Amino acid sequence: MSPTDREHLAIIQARAMLQESGVWSVEDDLSCLVDRFIERANKKRALEEFMLAVQERCNRIPLGHVIGTVDFDDMPLVVGSGVFIPRPHSRIIHKWIQSSAELRPDSKVLDLCAGIGAIGLGIARRRPDFNVTCIEFDPLAVQYLRRNIDRLSYKGVQASCLQADIRDEQAFAHFTHQIDLIVTNPPYVPQAQELLPEWREHHPQSSVYSGADGLELIRQIISLADQALVRDGWLVMEHGDGQAEAVRELFRRSYLTDIQTVIDEDESDASGNSVMTIGRKPQ
Ligand SMILES: C[S@@+](CC[C@H](N)C(=O)[O-])C[C@H]1O[C@@H](n2cnc3c(N)ncnc32)[C@H](O)[C@@H]1O
Repeated sequence: MSPTDREHLAIIQARAMLQESGVWSVEDDLSCLVDRFIERANKKRALEEFMLAVQERCNRIPLGHVIGTVDFDDMPLVVGSGVFIPRPHSRIIHKWIQSSAELRPDSKVLDLCAGIGAIGLGIARRRPDFNVTCIEFDPLAVQYLRRNIDRLSYKGVQASCLQADIRDEQAFAHFTHQIDLIVTNPPYVPQAQELLPEWREHHPQSSVYSGADGLELIRQIISLADQALVRDGWLVMEHGDGQAEAVRELFRRSYLTDIQTVIDEDESDASGNSVMTIGRKPQ
């Protein structure tokens, strides 16, 4: 059997294994895995690694953890076991920023619960005039965040990183009334909610869950934003599919105005809808 025949057979086998495992985008995953592990010079070694990777994906290890990178908004970001993998859903925030005429040039931006930095770095890439700080508390995520900030500085993307817990108001004192825009994709899943194994078993609990109703950190962020935002400043928050009404109610009961929820069908997939709620601090 020729090497090409062996690859062809391996890919057929991998497709069947992925289908059997229950992952939701077999062809996308397969094409990434083929690209990463088969298009390589040492074919024997590559095939072996390819099948090991397919095996891991079939064990529901998230694709980003298997291949070690994720392409997000045209940025190749590094990821690894123990940190949250950015989801395409978050591009809803970038699209809003791209189309929003109301953001001041040179805006000061905080990305709260930044993980490995996908949202903040995407903003910094699109708006080099903005001053973006990515804030994350988990030491491992902060390592990846710093790596990604360093990597993308090669492409001229500039952002900074602060390790802080959003429950620690003191850590945010120096941002008081300084910030034009807060973006965030915080943990928002209710503690008892069943999740796919990718998130239930292979993501840190603190990156996914947020108290009994899933809103614990969202409440904290609304309160923090009140302290940090300038008048007219924006709070832009991703959240779960079923939480729009609850989040709008929390926004309404706080100081925020101009509240709206946006759903982006194009960035939604079988793992959930892309949804965010926006509010503005009044004049
Ligand atoms: C859902 S993940 C999102 C990460 C990133 N925003 C993204 O979209 O890829 C939530 C992140 O919040 C971080 N986090 C959880 N609790 C936090 C806290 N109290 N303070 C700061 N970060 C926190 C987690 O470590 C995790 O990286």
